[in-house]
Amino acid sequence: MAHTDQAEPTRRDFLYIATGAMGAVGAGAVAWPFIDQMNPDASALALASIEVDVSAVEEGQSVTVQWRGKPVFIRYRTAAEIETANAVPVEDLPDPLARNANLAADAPATDGNRGAEGKEQWLVQVGICTHLGCVPLGDAGDFGGWFCPCHGSHYDTAGRIRKGPAPENLLIPPYAFVEDSKIKIG
Ligand code: FES
Repeated sequence: MAHTDQAEPTRRDFLYIATGAMGAVGAGAVAWPFIDQMNPDASALALASIEVDVSAVEEGQSVTVQWRGKPVFIRYRTAAEIETANAVPVEDLPDPLARNANLAADAPATDGNRGAEGKEQWLVQVGICTHLGCVPLGDAGDFGGWFCPCHGSHYDTAGRIRKGPAPENLLIPPYAFVEDSKIKIG
């Protein structure tokens, strides 16, 4: 299946993780080089929830998984990224809401509210630009987070919109750590 132009990943730290329905594909997601985030595998569309083993993800790395046909970015943030995000007053944010499905709809977009308590280093978010639905690029943009090249939306290290036409922060899906290094999404 591999095309020659896909043989070499262009971003060493941007991996694509295979996920299985709980108990179906089973133990240990396998990581392979990120190839094509615009074409989620149709077989993944129906999965209501997935479990992702993130034990192989190192600080400063991101992985993308598929959940209900959408890319979900999982990033192990560095201390500097968290610090930078924490330093921004919520009132300075274009979208002051956390957009975290695990919190109340009116929860403010603090850095802490963009993650899970005690697991602030992990950022889990739907990788779809809230403007018109493109998939943003990681480690990019003016705020060190994600950049959507379609119309120039810049997201910060907490996935919050900071500049450009996107109206909302990247959505945080329902998720929980079911083990220290295993995230259940959905
Ligand atoms: S779809 Fe991302 S900026 Fe328009």
